[in-house]
Amino acid sequence: MVELRSFKEGLEDVVAADSSICYIDGERGILSYRGIAIHELAEKSSFEEVCFLLWEGRLPRKAELDELRAAIGRERAVTRETLSLLATLARTSTPMDALRTAVSELSDSDPDAREWSPAANRRKALRLTGQIATIVAAFHRLREGKAVVPPDTGRGHAEDFLRMLNGETARAAAVRALDIALILHADHELNASTFAARVTAATLADMHSAITSAIGALKGPLHGGANEAVIRMLIEIGSLDRVDEYIHGKLARREKVMGFGHRVYTTEDPRATHLRAMSKEVAESSGETTWYDISRRIEKLINEEKNLNCNVDFYSASVYFMLGIPPDLFTPIFALSRISGWTAHVLEQYANNRLIRPRAEYTGPAYPQPYTPIEAR
Ligand SMILES: CC(C)(COP(=O)(O)OP(=O)(O)OC[C@H]1O[C@@H](n2cnc3c(N)ncnc32)[C@H](O)[C@@H]1OP(=O)(O)O)[C@@H](O)C(=O)NCCC(=O)NCCS
Repeated sequence: MVELRSFKEGLEDVVAADSSICYIDGERGILSYRGIAIHELAEKSSFEEVCFLLWEGRLPRKAELDELRAAIGRERAVTRETLSLLATLARTSTPMDALRTAVSELSDSDPDAREWSPAANRRKALRLTGQIATIVAAFHRLREGKAVVPPDTGRGHAEDFLRMLNGETARAAAVRALDIALILHADHELNASTFAARVTAATLADMHSAITSAIGALKGPLHGGANEAVIRMLIEIGSLDRVDEYIHGKLARREKVMGFGHRVYTTEDPRATHLRAMSKEVAESSGETTWYDISRRIEKLINEEKNLNCNVDFYSASVYFMLGIPPDLFTPIFALSRISGWTAHVLEQYANNRLIRPRAEYTGPAYPQPYTPIEAR
């Protein structure tokens, strides 16, 4: 029998792919897309520019960026069939479940559905990036009994998403805050949902199947679902004077505090640095600092008592909430951004594919066991 190598639970520290998309140094708190520091991208770039960077491996020239921005705008259109599916789902489904179902359905109307060339897959990446924003916004409008707001191809992605969601043009500060959040969430190496996408793509299943897998993996509270769990916790706490008792109680019961801890970072998650500052800025500019103040106090307690840092999901929760976004749209908004990274990884997987099929260390009854006839059991 071949001796199988042992592994750490949860594949911790296992390197499972070569990739030129995202570089992370968890000890030094470094995150970069194609080698460019996330801090620089957050300050100077736009979500569309980051999409180009992730898909093409370099920054776009001005004309290329204008063309991509327009192309994503055009691809925000979804068919009547998709809207009708969303109307049905809006009666009972959650936004994340509706997104997963609708993305699977999108392959039905995709003009490249049966095309397999790199160019066709690149077009699917672009199309999915546009369409996901419309699906999230339209689903929310439909469940509120409001008319769907069609996309405006001339606007930037973050701006048009907020307009499609709320039915009115968003303030420039809100657009920039969301755009930065989209930049910060766009890719993160082999996180659970990206790995799920790559595993599916590696069977040579199509792009829509891979992205549907990824959305399923993102939903869980240990991954993308954590941002919604954070805001539910902040709302439950409700006021600054209740934080200490609440957190001490949670820690005493050995419960996890959502938005803290990370598999890769031993120092501060570099995305959290921006989101903390953004949360403070949005709070101070609105004059209502409760959610930021509660978050800061939780962070201090968890730092002191568990020596854990907050992750990307902790301050994004208060930022989105203060922007007026409903809590159950937080994780779909994560998907609205991460679609850029998922598709970049799927394209990379297709370009140099080998089936991903690890082994398990068998822990069942020793072989061979007798087969007992049913009447003798
Ligand atoms: C992100 C996460 C899943 C990483 O998990 P992991 O690498 O498998 O780490 P573990 O869950 O094994 O945690 C290691 C230790 O830290 C503790 N810990 C980790 N995250 C914690 C948290 N958020 N709150 C309290 N304790 C936590 C664990 O209880 C464990 O302690 P123990 O060794 O005494 O049992 C984990 O930190 C977590 O569940 N965080 C909350 C969910 C979250 O915010 N997810 C979004 C990630 S971007």
